[in-house]
Amino acid sequence: MNGDNWKPRKVVIVGAGAVGSTFAYTLAQSGLAEEIGLLDANHELAMGQVLDLAHGQAFFPSVQIREAQKADYADAHLIFITAGSKQRPGESRLALLQRNAKIIQDVMDEIVRQNSSAVVVVVSNPVDVLTYVAQKRSGWPRGRVIGSGTVLDSARFRYLLSQYCGVDVHNVHAYILGEHGDSEVAAWSLTNMAGVPIEQYCVLCGKCEDWEASRRKIAEAVRDSAYHIIDYKGATWFAVGLALTRIAGAVLRNENSVLTVSAVLEGEYNLSGVSLGVPCILSQRGVDRILQVKLPPAEQNALARSATVLQEMIVQLQLPGSL
Ligand SMILES: NC(=O)c1ccc[n+]([C@@H]2O[C@H](COP(=O)([O-])OP(=O)(O)OC[C@H]3O[C@@H](n4cnc5c(N)ncnc54)[C@H](O)[C@@H]3O)[C@@H](O)[C@H]2O)c1
Repeated sequence: MNGDNWKPRKVVIVGAGAVGSTFAYTLAQSGLAEEIGLLDANHELAMGQVLDLAHGQAFFPSVQIREAQKADYADAHLIFITAGSKQRPGESRLALLQRNAKIIQDVMDEIVRQNSSAVVVVVSNPVDVLTYVAQKRSGWPRGRVIGSGTVLDSARFRYLLSQYCGVDVHNVHAYILGEHGDSEVAAWSLTNMAGVPIEQYCVLCGKCEDWEASRRKIAEAVRDSAYHIIDYKGATWFAVGLALTRIAGAVLRNENSVLTVSAVLEGEYNLSGVSLGVPCILSQRGVDRILQVKLPPAEQNALARSATVLQEMIVQLQLPGSL
């Protein structure tokens, strides 16, 4: 084997706050990357996180953790954007969205300027709108600029089903589609327990008196998960860190995994001009293929409503030259 051709798998994380640093920690534990770079507008924060993580290097699989520079975009395999601004007192949601869109555009411009060959994953919220902004700004193929989408929501869905039904979460297959947010759609038609469609499983199980009501309750609990955590501790970071590590694994190992990342649609599901969570095949190139599943009318309509919510936000943004 020629060692000269060896290139470390390098992941750059933009934004070293709660989500970026937790992701760096879970990624380092996973052994998926040989190099992890953290970059933040707050240099002191980035350095603090880097040192804190690097001191664990003796306990991680082999990995270099350091502060990244913009030049690191060039040969990174993956760039995750978790940079974001918090709402200022009295600031409207739209004004916050505009500020965060500007941050994403600036980061994306620099990634393009560095002639990067990376796959870019947007994480900052509202993730679907910002993914759309980033992809359009880059001019790159849509599969290479994607969002974390509803990968986390789908994991929450599986967890809650697992708890409710008393089945190991690894045997629960279920997807949340659409917006990572209030209009998200629980795709019951794609839900199965170890291959047994949920309709059949509920008949076999017989635990619920009214499984329609149970389903509504579970879907609402998934949708409201983040609100509960935010009420308790102000923000979420652990499960999202793991969800991002799962996405990183699919790309770095060229897995062809099916994950509900956010992808810009061009007619799939009869939707265009929007990015949202749909089942995608994820490889080293990013989204290789969007799986077009025939959804029952209620789910298809709910997905279309979710797309409308996101499209309205995109229109409101009115970013000159960006869309
Ligand atoms: N998609 C998901 O599933 C999901 C889940 C949880 C959180 N989030 C989102 O992730 C984002 C980060 O959350 P957090 O809790 O880590 O926030 P945080 O405030 O702890 O961290 C954000 C970091 O971004 C940095 N930053 C701001 N502008 C920057 C720029 N131009 N370049 C580099 N760094 C910059 C800030 O200095 C800060 O350290 C938020 O938008 C949050 O809503 C998404």
